[in-house]
Amino acid sequence: MISSSVRGERFSPIIAQWVTTALRGAESVNVDLIDLATITLPDDGQLAPGGGPATEVADRIEAADAFVFVTPEYNHSIPASLKRLIDWHYGQWMLKPALVVAYGVHGGHVAVEHLRGILAELNMVTTRRCLGLPAPWNALDESGRFAPDDAVGEALQSAVAELGWWAGVLADARAHTPFPH
Ligand SMILES: Cc1cc2nc3c(=O)[nH]c(=O)nc-3n(C[C@H](O)[C@H](O)[C@H](O)COP(=O)(O)O)c2cc1C
Repeated sequence: MISSSVRGERFSPIIAQWVTTALRGAESVNVDLIDLATITLPDDGQLAPGGGPATEVADRIEAADAFVFVTPEYNHSIPASLKRLIDWHYGQWMLKPALVVAYGVHGGHVAVEHLRGILAELNMVTTRRCLGLPAPWNALDESGRFAPDDAVGEALQSAVAELGWWAGVLADARAHTPFPH
């Protein structure tokens, strides 16, 4: 899972925690949380088409069979921190599925669609169900955890089930079916 924002006062970890709890409830899922505020990517002066020098998280991305992108919407798109992570990797993303969980004042739906377009360029499959959470900071419980209506939790469960299906199908395809380049 990718937690995308890097601001000091960022909200992303709260949503990432909510998603992690849901994923840990699913069968045979190991969650590796990559919090972009805790990693340093190389200088963009070294970036080349398809990536560049290996990053400190390249092996972790390579090891994943599926991704959940937790992202805010910034100016009707994804934050630069997430775009940099994507651009610094290439083969590590290829032919893998992703679920987008966005949030923002109005739900972050523009960021969802921008991200889906970017991921399509990397031969990634996004689940049909994506989540757009409007003003999630208004749905915290007394301990500061995101505690939305049941319907939102059910939407996440459905999306995670879709992601699991794609993860199995695409892992098998990557292993056994050459992709036409
Ligand atoms: C630079 C910037 C741009 C933003 N643009 C949008 C926007 O286009 N749409 C929206 O719904 N919220 C927007 N917001 C509000 C964010 O949804 C809100 O601040 C959220 O907490 C950001 O996530 P973060 O705390 O994880 O960084 C913006 C916030 C920032 C900092």
